[in-house]
Amino acid sequence: MSTTPATPAPDADWWRQAAVYQIYPRSFADANGDGIGDLKGITSRVPYLKQLGIDAVWLSPFYPSALADGGYDVDDYRDVDPKLGTLEDFDEMSAALHEAGIRVIVDIVPNHTSDRHEWFKEALASPKGSAARERYIFRDGQGADGELPPNDWTSIFGGGAWERVTEPDGTPGQWYFHLFAMEQPDLNWDNPEVHEDFKKTLRFWSDRGVDGFRVDVAHGLKKDMDAAHDDLETIHRADLFSLGEHPLWDRDEVHSIYAGWREIFNEYTPPRTAVAEAWVHADRRAKYASPEGLGQAFNFDLLQADFDAGQYREIIATNLAEAAATGASSTWVFSNHDVVRHATRYGLPKGGGHIGVGQDGRDWLLRGGDPAEVDVELGLRRAKAATALMLALPGSAYLYQGEELGLQEVGEIPDSERQDPTFFRNPGIEVGRDGCRVPLPWEQEGTSFGFGSGGSHLPQPAWFGRYAASVQEADAGSTLAFYRRALALRHELQGAERLTWHESADDDVLHFERPGGWHVVANFGDAPVNLPEGDLLLVSAEAEEGKLPAGATAWIRSQG
Ligand code: BGC
Repeated sequence: MSTTPATPAPDADWWRQAAVYQIYPRSFADANGDGIGDLKGITSRVPYLKQLGIDAVWLSPFYPSALADGGYDVDDYRDVDPKLGTLEDFDEMSAALHEAGIRVIVDIVPNHTSDRHEWFKEALASPKGSAARERYIFRDGQGADGELPPNDWTSIFGGGAWERVTEPDGTPGQWYFHLFAMEQPDLNWDNPEVHEDFKKTLRFWSDRGVDGFRVDVAHGLKKDMDAAHDDLETIHRADLFSLGEHPLWDRDEVHSIYAGWREIFNEYTPPRTAVAEAWVHADRRAKYASPEGLGQAFNFDLLQADFDAGQYREIIATNLAEAAATGASSTWVFSNHDVVRHATRYGLPKGGGHIGVGQDGRDWLLRGGDPAEVDVELGLRRAKAATALMLALPGSAYLYQGEELGLQEVGEIPDSERQDPTFFRNPGIEVGRDGCRVPLPWEQEGTSFGFGSGGSHLPQPAWFGRYAASVQEADAGSTLAFYRRALALRHELQGAERLTWHESADDDVLHFERPGGWHVVANFGDAPVNLPEGDLLLVSAEAEEGKLPAGATAWIRSQG
């Protein structure tokens, strides 16, 4: 008997234990055959998303953009990029997702606009000191003719953080600040007009039925641009500052912005949700995740961890305790559009496997490591074990498109085809993030492996066909089948947000229990281990003679 899919019930707590699937729209599915994924493409794949068993999608930016930073350079926050569709397409997509019981989260990019935003164009056309310039961070340069940047701060993407403009009269003029690419001028969050405009944007999408927001660079909005900077080798040396005192990151004042946003979220039923992208010290995350603030914050700790039982246990315990203390729920994530896919990270040559800022081995592939050195089988095996563990944890789990196919990072993109600004701003040093943004393979063969009829905006390697969704749909032993099973079972797990650890004799084994007699055992070691008694519900790699093999996780329900 078929059942009619219900629209999501108005449950104010839906986000607490949601499995959220990140869609990078221009690389998901291309309905109009222009080589770039679009909203109609997403709508066409709603049945796939429904079958996957996720609770929500988070869409990376789909707003008008020159794609200088993959859409994180926004020209207009309240419209859809014509390359990706129209507002009507958005409504259609959103209705189809809701009909399938899937909530919709959109990405808000408040730190910077694009340089094609109306405001920035107006700022360039207006004189120094004008109200139009006050929406951004303009300063006079140093030197006799202001020919030197106001200070030596550098951009996250490499190179200086200041760009000089040509004044309306044609003379070289002031400089504007950009934490990221030069096409991404930073907004001035000391200007009330900026606050009002973002509130308008939040209402615009909330009124359209959007369920929540992912807040880009949430820890960067408030800045002390007058901070002494002479002693800075580089502005990104956070270790030179006490917590909360860095001129650019994680300043206490930022929370007043989110308190204002919370009032807007709470005007809706159910309240709109938000998750902060805040790369901050663990002790400082709670403020972003507080009920008076955004409500939830990404914790990238597991993403930065090695495949190591001790590290995992410490991270899980700390984050659950932190969430319990603040009333938020934990977030877990292994892959997104900014990092090397975890199926590849976990197969990196010796010592690799983490993406930790400043740690040795960081961004191994982003920095041009040789893909031939990746142990693909080991990487996928560990990635599945890690994901199975994550999906059994209390809190919400964020998945990135393609990981359900076991997709590997694409390391072999020719330089001439690269798009990421981090590649262009760091010649010969970084290859950038394009490798995890290659359009998905839906079919084993054919034009762009079923992504669309007009090719793919980033080149797909020949091996992509092996990972195609259609191939995996027909195979009960595939990674896709494993994700579907885990996500379906996870719905039964969404009871109380707690777990109990069982001590294991083996340091390489983690064992915890969730309410209802669910045991989760993860084997990080090299040898098979015994499993507790009960029904084996899920195992990330074939159990051997009743034992859990190396690099695998199992879910067991104890009888009685
Ligand atoms: C996004 C990146 C983007 C940057 C600037 C990040 O945190 O996730 O993809 O390049 O913000 O907007």
